[in-house]
Amino acid sequence: MPTLLDRRLIFVTGKGGVGKSTVATALGVLAARRGMRTIVAELASQERIRRTLDHESANGSPAGERFEELQLGERLFTISIDPQLAMEEYLRVKTGSVGQVLGSSRLFHAFAMATPGMRDLLSVGKVWELAQLERRTRGAAPYDLVVVDSPASGHGVGILRTPRTFAEIARVGPVAHQGRTIATTLADRQFTGVVAVTTPEEMPVNETLWLGDALAHDGLELDAVIVNAVYPSRFEPGETKALERALRRTESPLARAALRAALSEHARASIQRAQQARLSEDLDCPLVELPYVFADHFGQSELDRLADALESAL
Ligand SMILES: Nc1ncnc2c1ncn2[C@@H]1O[C@H](COP(=O)(O)OP(=O)(O)O)[C@@H](O)[C@H]1O
Ligand SMILES: [Mg+2]
Repeated sequence: MPTLLDRRLIFVTGKGGVGKSTVATALGVLAARRGMRTIVAELASQERIRRTLDHESANGSPAGERFEELQLGERLFTISIDPQLAMEEYLRVKTGSVGQVLGSSRLFHAFAMATPGMRDLLSVGKVWELAQLERRTRGAAPYDLVVVDSPASGHGVGILRTPRTFAEIARVGPVAHQGRTIATTLADRQFTGVVAVTTPEEMPVNETLWLGDALAHDGLELDAVIVNAVYPSRFEPGETKALERALRRTESPLARAALRAALSEHARASIQRAQQARLSEDLDCPLVELPYVFADHFGQSELDRLADALESAL
């Protein structure tokens, strides 16, 4: 089995708020450092990555146009995938002028977008297109790696399942064919990887375990779980005893506040360890730990720190 960064397509999913977008970007930063031309693709119009990193448009025009491949750094790009624009692009490329007429028809739009799962199929279709060596988009250069900042767990699993569902429902015709092609790519573990991000807390851990089961149900697997925002364990058991003793004896309000803060951070770190233990008991895939980065603003240097931490693990 190739290591994670040897794949061409990596889906990053997990419970909302655990750091999916941050980790997807840090993976992109690491891959770009290693010389890979990398794009981090945001699904569901999250538009967050662009705000974390300074960027300019890949074609030199002012950034701000949506659905464009924007350059964030050396060999690092991002795109925010909009299903509607993905459909217009698909129709333009596949069917030429007829597609252009269809694509601009409001009735057709309304119909296509109301079809259950169609938005997901179009989004994942665009992801698939980005990962092709022969890009369908005119003039587009190929990428070595596409990192997908997927929606939260349930919807994230849905996105991975959608192409196969369409292939099965449609059976024949271009939608079935396209669905099958994409489904085959997603099921190819040499090509596609799936990563879950979690924090070491009860609810996100529950969701990660659920995610592992849900993927297994579809014949897919988690390639790694990234345990994000882990607090440092600063004290040995003997030392916490000493802190507790000191707290009982000290009268100074300042010293008491500092001791309380130290003990409460230690308690939080202990709870985190227990949740990490649940993950390692129940999962077969590697767990990768990322530290909680204490900073006022999460920017380039904070991302670099997470990429450093990923560097040794991946
Ligand atoms: N390792 C970390 N240390 C500190 N803050 C983090 C870390 N990872 C993520 N964050 C912060 O947590 C918040 C949620 O992260 P985000 O990547 O947007 O989550 P998601 O995409 O899962 O909703 C952001 O403000 C982000 O800067
Ligand atoms: Mg996000």
